Amino acid sequence: MKKKTVLTGITTTGTPHLGNYVGAIRPAIEASRDEGVNSYYFLADFHSLVKCHDPARVHQSRLEVAATWMALGLDTEKSIFYCQSDIPEIPELTWILTCMTAKGLMNRAHAYKAAVQENEDNGSTDPDKGITMGLFSYPVLMAADILMFNAHIVPVGRDQVQHLEMTRDIAQRFNHHFGEHFVLPEAKVDESTAILAGLDGRKMSKSYNNYIPLFVPEKQLRKLIMKIVTNSQAPEEPKETEGCVLFDFYRTFASPTQVEEMRQRFARGIGWGEVKQELFELVNAQLAEPRQKYAELIQNPKYIQEVLTKGAEKARVHSQPFLDKIRAAVGIKPLSS
Ligand code: TRP
Repeated sequence: MKKKTVLTGITTTGTPHLGNYVGAIRPAIEASRDEGVNSYYFLADFHSLVKCHDPARVHQSRLEVAATWMALGLDTEKSIFYCQSDIPEIPELTWILTCMTAKGLMNRAHAYKAAVQENEDNGSTDPDKGITMGLFSYPVLMAADILMFNAHIVPVGRDQVQHLEMTRDIAQRFNHHFGEHFVLPEAKVDESTAILAGLDGRKMSKSYNNYIPLFVPEKQLRKLIMKIVTNSQAPEEPKETEGCVLFDFYRTFASPTQVEEMRQRFARGIGWGEVKQELFELVNAQLAEPRQKYAELIQNPKYIQEVLTKGAEKARVHSQPFLDKIRAAVGIKPLSS
């Protein structure tokens, strides 16, 4: 049987935090070890230009995100790890797909609609104020990322499901008109992956400023963990695990046995400070080695670049001939052979 292709893009904005780690990076790295699939992981740096127009930040974030995935153990030999912007076939395919994409479909994209809504709420006379074509066409670029490699399965967060539906729509339309060239991909939203709460109990997110950066120094990690919200129960009081932010945090990093033990200690009564100290030790033990590796990698951008360049070469073994076929399918091919 032919192996399935699994592909996912990683936006290169900002510095990854613990929530990104447990919600996306950790499961993706585990999945990349699956021998039964071909996996593609790439840095969606063209996508980052939609949100960020600061060249130094765009550049730094590409470096940090690449180093993060490598430090956490992504197998860059087994899976194809590359930068979107190193694959010139992707923007080319984006244009070809743009010409087969209904504008009305893009009008319905959540991100675009939210931006329009915000303008309306602010009483702006122009509903498209501040909205670039990049934001508007974002889903077409994402469709090109996916269709370029005929991915079957695309692991994404819930907020990306609509983009996958759009990708299928675009692919279907193309296939209908020009022949069966593209695989229709499926989104894979893993319901079991943890959504980590932030320090204040809401979902860990940059926008709430309640996050713990992935590779903060040990001391700071401890300090941040000590800030996780708890109630004012005294140490000896028996405690509820259900709905307890601290317990959920612990569960995300602990083994099933450790979780069970902690559950019993909650029932018997345990001080919040003690739980936090143990949580810190647990998280720190898991991150100490990658943190060290990250520090080394970030000092060696040349090496990271080499890995990405090699990845792009591997990816282009597929994308170059495939794009030639797509060009020919739409009528762009040498005038004589
Ligand atoms: N839009 C995705 C996100 O914000 C990132 C992304 C870009 C992506 N291209 C992709 C994800 C292709 C999956 C497949 O998370």
